[in-house]
Amino acid sequence: MKREQTFDLPHKGLRAALAELGSSATGSDFENAEELRLFENLFRDVWKLIALHSAEEERITFAELEKRAPGATVTFASEHRALDAAYDFLAEAVETTKHLTAKDRFVADLNKFSAALQTHMNREEDELQPLIWKYFSDEELMEHRRAIMAASGPESLIKWFRFVFYALNGKETAEFLDRLKSMFPETTFIEAQHLAEVAEKRRRMRL
Ligand SMILES: [Fe+2]
Repeated sequence: MKREQTFDLPHKGLRAALAELGSSATGSDFENAEELRLFENLFRDVWKLIALHSAEEERITFAELEKRAPGATVTFASEHRALDAAYDFLAEAVETTKHLTAKDRFVADLNKFSAALQTHMNREEDELQPLIWKYFSDEELMEHRRAIMAASGPESLIKWFRFVFYALNGKETAEFLDRLKSMFPETTFIEAQHLAEVAEKRRRMRL
């Protein structure tokens, strides 16, 4: 039987967000005020998601695993700190407008950050997931997921879903919405439905 996946949905969302950010960095005209504003908003939003994800991963997933397999998450947590530092470097470039004066350099640094985060996520999936399955039941993993979602709150989760929906097919989206229906207040659920519709339109454009 397929086990409960710890990283599947959040990592799908992060990968979609990174792809979006990368193509926005190269595909936006930074001399156009509106395009620049949209890029900078996306840049800040994507980082909020990455930071929230790392924080919740450490607070729940890593902390619980450490209780049963001490030391298992040490290198993963230190990769989070290295990613924080790499992002701080990019954020400083944005704050000091180096992304405008040295755009090629900024895009190259963003690509490196993106690659480092991808490698980190791949390692969590390849190396941490088997350990997590060894030490926890699916019921416990579902409880971890519930704790993470409850702490994040509907407003942050909605920002996630925009990217998660980009990365799901139609059937998976319907199943996901079904699960959200019982968890979310009605207004947030309607917002999630709207994001799913936008993602569906993009999917059709891609096909
Ligand atoms: Fe992580």
